[in-house]
Amino acid sequence: MKILLTGGAGYIGSHTVVALIEAGFQPIVLDNFSNSHPAVLERLARIVGQTVPLEHVDVLDTPWLQDVLRRHRPAGVVHFAGDKAVGESVAQPLKYFHNNIGGAVSLLRAMEAMHAETPEDAPTLVFSSSATVYGDPARVPITEDFPRSHTNPYGHSKLVIEDMLYALMAARPAWRVGVLRYFNPVGAHPSGLIGEDPAGIPNNLMPYVAQVAVGQRDHLNVFGNDYPTPDGTGVRDFIHVQDLAAGHVAAIKALLGRGESFTVNLGTGRGHSVLEVVRAFEKASGRAVPYRIAPRRAGDVAQCWADPGLALRLLGWRAKHALDDMCTDAWRWQSGNPNGYRG
Ligand code: NAD
Ligand code: UFG
Repeated sequence: MKILLTGGAGYIGSHTVVALIEAGFQPIVLDNFSNSHPAVLERLARIVGQTVPLEHVDVLDTPWLQDVLRRHRPAGVVHFAGDKAVGESVAQPLKYFHNNIGGAVSLLRAMEAMHAETPEDAPTLVFSSSATVYGDPARVPITEDFPRSHTNPYGHSKLVIEDMLYALMAARPAWRVGVLRYFNPVGAHPSGLIGEDPAGIPNNLMPYVAQVAVGQRDHLNVFGNDYPTPDGTGVRDFIHVQDLAAGHVAAIKALLGRGESFTVNLGTGRGHSVLEVVRAFEKASGRAVPYRIAPRRAGDVAQCWADPGLALRLLGWRAKHALDDMCTDAWRWQSGNPNGYRG
């Protein structure tokens, strides 16, 4: 069964390619490489022992998408493609509304047109949403029925896409849609061949810590140590990207099997503080991670972790990896590929 992965060359997409192949699916990667490198396809081939088909296409190009769907007739689509840097979204909101919301509209219209041509195929979609749709949560753990809000254009784009999907599901009962709200994906494939390869200065904690440990940056800035958390630093639900990839396989199987749409959190249900991550990374890497306490980062929340119970009940999925595994695998990737896919 073919599964089309828009943004499949990216961080989460590439790990999901491997998990889908291991589960017996045939993934097809669709990407414009705006935030990824074609070398990921060679790495994937080394891991899975086969060439992964690539469609070098922009999701904004609806006619091309339709052509791809017509040629492959995938049983499902996973929509990863989009921009994801919170700070950049504040500086360049139109880029985010155009690529994220425009990209989703383009894909949905292509899928709708395909459905008109082949009504026997139920449109089946998994969408990469984010815990960012919970804004500043009133309490933790977060369940899916918490109120949603946004604090930046990136988060706003995810919220709008969710709403578009809910409207579409109401209007078109044939559609099967899985909305996955990821918490904080980190780590890498245990082979050390694929991982997170941020362009420029990393915005996120784990890749920054990894670059400090490997000696590319001299220290980490810890954004605030006066939060109402046990050690004063921010607390997040870090989830191994391998667990996240498995969550996509479970979501696709549920949609193709039972056929009911759903919205679920993909998190571990545990929070770890910034300083806990630093210590775990030092242990995993055997390197020091010097840090300085810096002012809070605008827009950060004190703590955020999931109640992952619904994903277990609906998909039979739960995260298996602990923080030490996440750091060990992130370190293997970082130390083996200090310049990411650029050699
Ligand atoms: P990523 O940037 O590594 O992957 C996204 C991929 O989409 C890249 O390969 C990029 O080249 C591609 N892309 C972007 N715009 C495109 C377009 N117009 N046409 C075709 N391809 C395009 O990001 P990721 O971390 O793998 O995230 C995947 C998805 O998950 C994103 O939608 C992101 O918002 C969401 N998400 C990520 C996180 C996280 O912390 N990584 C958390 C929550 C949600
Ligand atoms: N942090 C630092 N120093 C850094 C980077 C981060 O102290 O250099 C701290 C942050 O202040 C926060 C924690 O580390 O307390 C985690 O920060 P990240 O940037 O790694 O992750 P966020 O929780 O802020 O956001 C991430 C993604 C969002 C997504 C959200 C929920 O960037 O897109 O997870 O899924 F919406």
